[in-house]
Amino acid sequence: MVYSPFFGLALTFVIWGSLIVASKANFYSDIDITWGNDRAKIVNNGEILQLSLDRYSGSGFQSKNEYLFGNIHMKIKLVPGNSAGTVTAYYLSSQGPTHDEIDFEFLGNLSGDPYILHTNVFTQGKGNREQQFYLWFDPTQDFHTYSILWNPSQIIFTVDGIPIRVFKNAETIGVPYPKDQPMRLYSSLWNADDWATRGGLIKTDWSQAPFTASYRDFRASGCVWLGGKSSCGASSSSSKDWRTQALDPSKEEKLKWVQKNYMIYDYCKDLKRFPQGFPPECSLSP
Ligand SMILES: *[C@@H]1O[C@H](CO)[C@@H](O)[C@H](O)[C@H]1NC(C)=O
Repeated sequence: MVYSPFFGLALTFVIWGSLIVASKANFYSDIDITWGNDRAKIVNNGEILQLSLDRYSGSGFQSKNEYLFGNIHMKIKLVPGNSAGTVTAYYLSSQGPTHDEIDFEFLGNLSGDPYILHTNVFTQGKGNREQQFYLWFDPTQDFHTYSILWNPSQIIFTVDGIPIRVFKNAETIGVPYPKDQPMRLYSSLWNADDWATRGGLIKTDWSQAPFTASYRDFRASGCVWLGGKSSCGASSSSSKDWRTQALDPSKEEKLKWVQKNYMIYDYCKDLKRFPQGFPPECSLSP
């Protein structure tokens, strides 16, 4: 079994078997830049990654590893100033038409106006499960930790350790759950001024370009998927780790606090959209 506190370590295990090498999170060993040429940059010896966007292109990266379940953390500092029209996406996804996907998307705004954090969950190619939030801090001033815990019973989205959304396994009531398709982590910074800010009313101000978002401290405790096999094996021994984790009562309280004070859209409450009745998983939503 490979249980790796750091992403690079998982790779080390796979390559050198049982030789344990302590390694810090390092973007050179953990991710591949996939889009935007030199608009995506790894700096500070692999500690920091920057994505940028100009009028010609955005940029993006993906994790080298694929996971079938994991607990993924990244610190991100979003595009500051007038970021209206820009979108920073940070998500897990598998491939193909019936793919699964777990999304964070940060929609930029005019200086001083709040970002929207947009979330979604796709299972078997079907999404339409949007929830949106404002944040309780300015995400452009400092790095904040955005995490996705994905285990067989639930998906927990957290921001600085505070849960904002939970998607439970609802297979017993007929809702497909992501559990068979390995996913990679992706992130990109792109222009979406046709819809992002107030429905496309506000356009990207290219005089402010390049727009830059920064990343650091990527950590993944995951079951790495390699050559058709999971590094976690069939049996999971310790019961206290992320693979069985659920919200404890204090985290439940925090989730309620976020949902009461910062949630600005919930598909499970959008009667106009679902006049015939809400999707089945809405009956479980905390
Ligand atoms: C931008 O700020 C306005 C005004 O506060 C707000 O209504 C909107 O939800 C914010 N976010 C986006 C992406 O437009």
